[in-house]
Amino acid sequence: MNYKIGVISGDGIGPEIVKEAKKILDKAGEVYGHTFSYDEILMGGVSIDATGVPLTDEAIAQAKAADAVLMGSIGGNTSTSPWYQLPPELRPEAGLLKLRKSLNLFANLRPAYLYEELKEACPLREDIIGDGFDMMIMRELTGGLYFGTRVTEEREGLMTAVDTLTYNEQEIRRIARRGFDIAMKRRKKVTSVDKANVLDSSRLWRKIVEEVAKDYPEVTLEHMLVDNCAMQLVKDPKQFDVILTENMFGDILSDEASMVTGSIGMLSSASLNDTKFGLYEPSGGSAPDIAGKGIANPIATILSAAMLLRYSLDLDQEADAVEHAVKRVLKEGYRTIDIMPQEEEKKSSVTQVGTSEMGYLIAERIQK
Ligand code: IPM
Ligand code: MG
Repeated sequence: MNYKIGVISGDGIGPEIVKEAKKILDKAGEVYGHTFSYDEILMGGVSIDATGVPLTDEAIAQAKAADAVLMGSIGGNTSTSPWYQLPPELRPEAGLLKLRKSLNLFANLRPAYLYEELKEACPLREDIIGDGFDMMIMRELTGGLYFGTRVTEEREGLMTAVDTLTYNEQEIRRIARRGFDIAMKRRKKVTSVDKANVLDSSRLWRKIVEEVAKDYPEVTLEHMLVDNCAMQLVKDPKQFDVILTENMFGDILSDEASMVTGSIGMLSSASLNDTKFGLYEPSGGSAPDIAGKGIANPIATILSAAMLLRYSLDLDQEADAVEHAVKRVLKEGYRTIDIMPQEEEKKSSVTQVGTSEMGYLIAERIQK
């Protein structure tokens, strides 16, 4: 079968890492008898340079016409890039937010998993790591502070900026359902994270999550305040299975969770709506400081491609084969620079490789 994949290479390391993920899809296609056709979509800084805006209507239409979209990363250095001299709605990130909203991608899945082989790169103490951890951060992606009304204006002689955090019950219910559905396929525990001791939006969040939980008697629900969760992620990450949370808390906690696993270069993500469609991207950013050097870790993007196979195309075996190939390469000792062991004496036991070599090694190991 032929699948139509929209591809947003984007800015910074985006094009380099997406190239490797396409290599992986093509190899999986070759082994399992599928073909992928790619439609390049402009978004972010490259779109600003080419069209004056970070996302055109044409780009949205291209994304909608695809079976799924694979994305690299967008944005540049916020202090030095001319993109950040533009009004906020014309900056690279505005393109991504518009795409999420236009495609109603309300459910963001960010798995954070500690690979046995990467324990060396994990910054936590060995007794905390234990036999590893495996959690899924479910981040609400189209509501909250990111999409509320905002304004900067003078009020009573003082420059004042306002951002609004809004959630309605329907927005909370649909992400909560997704969270519980996923928990049912995992270890059946949901930790719902909020700031209900201060925020109204969090109090509604808690109430609706509790209502949804009634339909999932097998799932254990626990509530946790976001500040405590930030602490628990380093203190005892093993306690988490599914972390269910609103947009901005999820943005922050998912970066923290990824660092706990050793490298943000390993963390994939899927943004889903009510259909099979999804946008798949690494959780990390565009890393402009290392762009073009051929040293970026393509694994998060490759694992995002595996999620694309699994969630949008229902190709579970193919997804398993990709994930298995990643594990094998790590087991054989290949590392990009970001996941190299810290201690000098341990460096000789592994082989440092660049972006495209890592892609090649993984592709070579995809088999039935
Ligand atoms: C992410 C990123 C985005 C976000 C930025 C680029 C707008 O940090 O996907 O986590 O905050 O959602
Ligand atoms: Mg983020």
